Amino acid sequence: MRFVFFTDIHLLENKDSIIGFEKCLDRMLAFDPQLLINGGDLGVTTEAVNTYYEMIKELPVPVYQVNGNHEICNGSLIPEEAGQFSHSFDDHDIHFVIFDTVRYFEPTDEHPHNWYFVADQQNLEWLATDLAGIPKQMPVILASHCALSTSAPFRFGQKIGMEFPVNEVTDADKVLNLLKPFENVATLHGHDHENCRHHVEGIHILTTAAVAGGWWRNGLKSPNVSGEPQGFRVIDINSGQIESQYVTLQEGQSQLASWYTQEETDRHFINVFDASPETQVHIEDIGKLQPLNPFSDSTKRLSPHLYELSANDIEQIASSETLSLTIIFENGQTNQLEIGCPSFKQNNE
Ligand SMILES: [Fe+2]
Repeated sequence: MRFVFFTDIHLLENKDSIIGFEKCLDRMLAFDPQLLINGGDLGVTTEAVNTYYEMIKELPVPVYQVNGNHEICNGSLIPEEAGQFSHSFDDHDIHFVIFDTVRYFEPTDEHPHNWYFVADQQNLEWLATDLAGIPKQMPVILASHCALSTSAPFRFGQKIGMEFPVNEVTDADKVLNLLKPFENVATLHGHDHENCRHHVEGIHILTTAAVAGGWWRNGLKSPNVSGEPQGFRVIDINSGQIESQYVTLQEGQSQLASWYTQEETDRHFINVFDASPETQVHIEDIGKLQPLNPFSDSTKRLSPHLYELSANDIEQIASSETLSLTIIFENGQTNQLEIGCPSFKQNNE
């Protein structure tokens, strides 16, 4: 069974969002999914919400909606009703859970946002009851806007452990504890506008970069905060095994990796768009690259799927125009590709 998760479309923000989302819809449907799940953040205006529902109304497959924080901002999620939209369904012997974590907050000087994220008692009790009747070998997919496990707040210097968090979910660990007994379980998230794929005690956490990337600031060339192009996630479940791939909106661009430079520090990386800590990345003539530690101070404003090149590496490849990469994902899938690299020659002259 195949389905697609897409998130953070932020319609009518900046430039070309309609063209971009039309392209996204066509590209998603080309993968012949059985259903789509939208991870939330339709846009900040009522017009954006109306435009979205107009654009998806004739799709040949069902679209399930997860509330994002923008649904509070755009008025489609009424404050008093927030938290009432968790539900589940079974499709092709897979248990899908849409888990509602967005709540209204009366803004203050200290907390200017009118929303926060929580797995509250009512929803936790509902989830416990919902999962009680599900066989442990049945694949379970749970979608919520903000990730149930994320290092992004640390990496991006945001406040951690807030009483009403805007970048984490209060009591996320209680949701994960309810999911741990299942043999094949993945959680789907957006919000961070970056890919971040890792495991928590057997649960595959799949945070997916935004369709809007960097909020459509440069139309279809608006990379996400960690440099990966705009895209969505295609998920296949066969014989209980959950596998996924990140797909970029533009067919013509590399689907797997590109060069990434952190301009302010002049550090250079190979951005393997959907790498997890177990993914292996090799460069011909250089060898294996090490993933970044997400909780190191040197990873500030970076993502763990960036693989740093040392000064020696740069010297070695200074006159190359392309690099030959081998990427081995943890399921054994091996990819060989060439990526372009910037010219260092000029700088050295
Ligand atoms: Fe967003």
